[in-house]
Amino acid sequence: MAITITMGIQKGGCGKSTTTGILAYLLSQDGYKVLAVDMDSQGNLTELLSKRPANEFVEKSVLEAMQRLDPTNYLVPIYENLDLLPANKFLATFPRWIYTGVTYLGEKIRYNGDNLSKILDETLEKVRDNYDFIVIDTPPSLSEQTTNALCASEYVVVLFECSNWCYSAIPNFMDTVEGARNVSKHGTKVIGILRTMNDVRRSDAKAFNEMIEEDYPNEVFKTIITRKALIGRLSLYGFNQNAELKQAFQANVVIFHPCRYSIDHIFT
Ligand SMILES: Nc1ncnc2c1ncn2[C@@H]1O[C@H](COP(=O)(O)OP(=O)(O)O)[C@@H](O)[C@H]1O
Ligand SMILES: [Mg+2]
Repeated sequence: MAITITMGIQKGGCGKSTTTGILAYLLSQDGYKVLAVDMDSQGNLTELLSKRPANEFVEKSVLEAMQRLDPTNYLVPIYENLDLLPANKFLATFPRWIYTGVTYLGEKIRYNGDNLSKILDETLEKVRDNYDFIVIDTPPSLSEQTTNALCASEYVVVLFECSNWCYSAIPNFMDTVEGARNVSKHGTKVIGILRTMNDVRRSDAKAFNEMIEEDYPNEVFKTIITRKALIGRLSLYGFNQNAELKQAFQANVVIFHPCRYSIDHIFT
């Protein structure tokens, strides 16, 4: 049975999609069987992992998987141990579909379950036994996509990028996680707040790092992900045959260690 982890915060540009992609990639490289689920209509995780435009997955995405409550026909193999459940712009019609029972293609499909935030959970049920980990990327909002991701997850990693608006987003996000925990059978628990895209030379970043540590001393991961050009360029070059990434690994630059750190927390 897979362990499911959602990466979230309702503020954009905090490293959710990048960190989800890196986490999925590293876990699969470690020999775990991994499913990466894109729950953001921007399709950034889809493009990062598949190296294809998200629009190529129209009618072949997580949205159709949820409408049929079965992801089997929508899984895209990326590497030997890594599959992707992709997203595209039409995922933005997910709320309209669940409230009207009409899909963006005009089909009438009504979800008959007891809770509209459990559609993804029910969908993933069909494949949970095939994976060790399922990692889910979420949109920058507390929308139905996010509540569905949370209700399907045992664990949540909260992404924190040093800015005032990300700081003020955290309490509402924590409340939403608690709401999900009350209805989910998975226990939806925050395993940690991960400080990402940190510019250590900036004094305001230092101040925010300290503030978040004071507010959430038990939740905050000790490791901080710094802003690195190489990680920014992943969206351009991807993981496969990425010469500079290979070089970084050879030089033993442990840029990705924080993600491993998050996983260690699950097992300890
Ligand atoms: N550690 C990092 N160092 C440098 N650039 C990063 C890092 N993490 C993410 N980025 C870049 O920052 C931007 C926002 O990251 P993204 O993962 O898309 O955030 P979100 O999914 O929260 O909106 C992207 O262009 C991404 O390539
Ligand atoms: Mg994103």
